[in-house]
Amino acid sequence: MTKQASATAAFPISSPSSAPGNLAQRLEDAFLTVRNETERRAVPLSPEDQQIQSMPDASPAKWHRAHTTWFWEQFLLGEHAPGYRPFHPDFAFLFNSYYVSAGPRHARGHRGDITRPSAGEVGAYRKYVDAAVVKFFRETGEDKLRALAPLVEVGLNHEQQHQELMFTDILHAFAQNPVSPAYDPDWRFPAATRTGEDWLSLNEGIHTVGHVDDSFHFDNEKPAHRALVGPVKIARNLVTNAEWLAFMRDGGYAKATLWLMDGFAAASKEDWQAPGHWREVDGQWQVMTLAGLKPIDPDAPVCHISYYEADAFARWAGKHLPTEMEWEVAARAGALNDAFGIVWQWTRSSYSPYPGYRAVEGALGEYNGKFMVNQLVLRGSSLATPEGHSRITYRNFFYPHHRWQFTGLRLADYE
Ligand SMILES: [Fe+2]
Repeated sequence: MTKQASATAAFPISSPSSAPGNLAQRLEDAFLTVRNETERRAVPLSPEDQQIQSMPDASPAKWHRAHTTWFWEQFLLGEHAPGYRPFHPDFAFLFNSYYVSAGPRHARGHRGDITRPSAGEVGAYRKYVDAAVVKFFRETGEDKLRALAPLVEVGLNHEQQHQELMFTDILHAFAQNPVSPAYDPDWRFPAATRTGEDWLSLNEGIHTVGHVDDSFHFDNEKPAHRALVGPVKIARNLVTNAEWLAFMRDGGYAKATLWLMDGFAAASKEDWQAPGHWREVDGQWQVMTLAGLKPIDPDAPVCHISYYEADAFARWAGKHLPTEMEWEVAARAGALNDAFGIVWQWTRSSYSPYPGYRAVEGALGEYNGKFMVNQLVLRGSSLATPEGHSRITYRNFFYPHHRWQFTGLRLADYE
């Protein structure tokens, strides 16, 4: 995963009419690469690990493996592969997530209640659908495949989003376990980059933001449009654990004047004293990671903070959070250290439609548009984001109290 301020490569199926090689083969290669990555991430997880749902926002690994498979059945095979027979008649109900247009579905908060199908049966489901999709690519004409390539890319990117959630969700589950199990004992938190001046100054100017060409993007990244940005200074570096500890030692979590009202209510109700997954052991702060419980590295970027905490920290520091437009312009200038690959960065921009945005027709129109209220935008990518999934215009979004994702911040200033 790149940590420089540049987009990573898209799958080799963008612009299929101009890309070299056989389209069916490129689709098959990209499909199997992504499908295999999902299974690779599940390898260290026992059937018991794959079953757990430690909170309603998190899903079992088994569910992620099955739901991403349902997505291919529902949107590609079911609609475009003549004569396709679903693997099991109940799976559409069990593994549809939130697509009202695709029919009724099991309640999100009860995904962990489903012990059957077993993890092994979900593996068989995945193999069945993989074989059907590969057969479909091989037996479908070039014109039809070209027309369906954008749908395939959505399916690939959808599955990659769930690959990230497999990490965040199992980490949350393991963090509830008093013996702090490791997903991978050899895993290490990525090292931060420290180069250049601390602050990047952006003069006032009108900039294009949003996705401008036809390479893969989600619909929420368009239309590209002009926006007034600056004057503003943006921190080149991510906020570190050492800086966060200073905020904590200064009583940051207890000073109501630093907090939004909803934020202080959330912090009080949940008794937040430190970022998510932090534990105080014998007077020392430790953090639950994919390698188990580890001492806090003061130089590492702070992780597992909510928007409310990021906002309070910025106020304590006498600074601000950047808008998503400011982040994008700075990233496009190549000026942000660790824009990608460590923590998603909270912005103070509400997750709203860009001017002129319209969701696509049909069930896939439910992918992004219906979530455009009450959430905040995060930019960049995280240590859990799969290779090839990030780009400068990417808009991630979560509710302001969420902190089980790999989320951090960088500051902005207007003086
Ligand atoms: Fe999904």
